[in-house]
Amino acid sequence: MSKKFFIKTFGCQMNFNDSERIRGILRTLGYEPTDRWEEADLILLNTCTIREKPDQKVLTHLGEYKKIKEKNPNALIAVSGCLAQRAGWELVQKAPVIDIMFSSFNMHQLPELINQAQAGYKAIAILETPPEDEDKVWEYPVERDNPYCAYVTIIKGCDKDCTYCVVPRTRGRERSRPMESILEEVKRLVDDGVREIHLLGQNVTAWGKDLPKPIPFSELLYEVSKIEGVERIRFTTGHPIDLTDDIIEAMATIPQVCDALHLPFQAGSNRILELMDRKYTKEFYLELTQKLKEKVKGIALSTDIIVGFPTETEEDFEHTLDVVRKVRFEQIFSFKFSPRPGTPAKDMEPQVPDDVKIERMKRLLDLQKEISSELAQRYLKGTWEVLIEEKRGDDIYVGRTTTNKWATVKAKEDIIGKLVRVKVYKATPFNLDCELVEVVR
Ligand code: SAH
Ligand code: SF4
Ligand code: F3S
Repeated sequence: MSKKFFIKTFGCQMNFNDSERIRGILRTLGYEPTDRWEEADLILLNTCTIREKPDQKVLTHLGEYKKIKEKNPNALIAVSGCLAQRAGWELVQKAPVIDIMFSSFNMHQLPELINQAQAGYKAIAILETPPEDEDKVWEYPVERDNPYCAYVTIIKGCDKDCTYCVVPRTRGRERSRPMESILEEVKRLVDDGVREIHLLGQNVTAWGKDLPKPIPFSELLYEVSKIEGVERIRFTTGHPIDLTDDIIEAMATIPQVCDALHLPFQAGSNRILELMDRKYTKEFYLELTQKLKEKVKGIALSTDIIVGFPTETEEDFEHTLDVVRKVRFEQIFSFKFSPRPGTPAKDMEPQVPDDVKIERMKRLLDLQKEISSELAQRYLKGTWEVLIEEKRGDDIYVGRTTTNKWATVKAKEDIIGKLVRVKVYKATPFNLDCELVEVVR
C-alpha cells in the first residue's frame, strides 16, 4: 500500500503555490494525498510568520498532530515555510516531535530529508542563504486543486526591507526565475487545460532586474500572453514604486491581462510611510491609482493596510481613511500591526495600544463596507465575463470575473471550465448572482 501525506498550509498565495510544488515532489516519491491527518504517514505544516497569530497556530496544530505517533510510530512530522526559516531551531526545541524541517530555500531537498528521517535522524535543514541549486525545484511537477486557474511563481524573496516585515528574512533577497523556465511551465499548464495564469511573487513587478541580462516585467507579460491557450493573466503582488508606466501600458494593451490589481499602500500618512520605509508618499500613491484608473478602464483595485503602526496618531490614521475614500478600492485587507522579531518597527516607540488598533480597524472596515456595497452596484449594468471554476449544486456554477469578483451562475448546460458572459441580477461585495447570457468559449 502506498504511503499517504497530509499538508496544512498557512499564509499567502506563494506559500500555497509552494505546497502545490511539495505535493508534486511527494507524488514523485510515490506518496498519495489524504484529507485526514490521522491516516497520514507524513504530516507537513507549511508555515507563515507574517504576524504573531500564524506563529501560534503552528504550535497548536503540532500539539494535535503529534498524536499520530501513538498510532503510527513511523509517521513523520515535517515543518516547512517562513516560520521554519525565521525560527526553526527555536521551534524544534519547543516541539521535539518535528522530524523534518526545511524552508522555501530548499524544497528540492525534501527527498533526501525524508530518507534521513526514515533512517532515524532528525532532518533539520535550515540554511542561512538559498543554495546554488535552488532552481532545481522548478523541475518538479506541481499538483493543483483548481484545474483552470494556476499559480506560477516567478520571483522569490524581497529586496524592499519595509521596517515591519519579516519576509526578506524568511524568503531571502530577490531571485527572478529565468524567463524560459516560466514560459515552459505556462505552456505545460495550458496543455493541461489551465486558462488563467496567476504570476506570483512578494514583489512581482521587480521581476527580471537581477537576471544575467535584465528584462522588464512588462516583457514577461507580453511573452506569457503570446502562449496559445492563455485566456487570462493576473499578477500579485506589486510594490507601488516598481509599477512603472510600461507595466501599466502592458495592462492596458494586452487583452488577457485582467482589469484587477492588488496594490498595497499600508498607510496614508507620509510620516508613517517614511517610518515604514515604503519609499513613496500618499500623493504618489494617489496619482498612481488615478493613472491606473484612466489607462485600465474599469479596473478593480484592492489593497493591504496596516492599522496602528508604532507612533500612529489619530491624524495619521485619518490619512489612511482619506486614501480609502479617494481611491475607492473594491476590497481591502487590513491588519493590526504585529511586532515581528528582528524587524526595526518592533522597537519603535510608542507602540499603539491594542484597544486603539481595534477601534481604528472598526472605523476602517465600516467605511470600506459602504464603499464595497456602492461599488458592487456597477455590476448590475451590462454583461460580464466569468471563468467557471466549479459546480456548486444542481444547475449552479461559480467562477470569477476579470475583476476578481466571485460570481454564482445559473445554467442548464454544463459550463465548467468555460468562459461565459453573464448578466448580474444581485450584487453584494462578496458575490454576484448571475444568469447565463452565452458561452463564449
Ligand atoms: N509583498 C507584499 C506583502 C506581503 S505580506 C507587498 O509588499 O505588497 C502581506 C501583508 O501583510 C502586507 O501587505 C502587510 O499589509 C501585512 N503585514 C506585513 N507585516 C506585518 C506586520 N508586522 N504587522 C501587520 N501586518 C503586516
Ligand atoms: Fe514585506 Fe515590504 Fe517586501 Fe512586501 S515589499 S514583502 S511588505 S518587505
Ligand atoms: Fe507568510 Fe511567508 Fe507568505 S511569512 S505571508 S507565508 S511570505
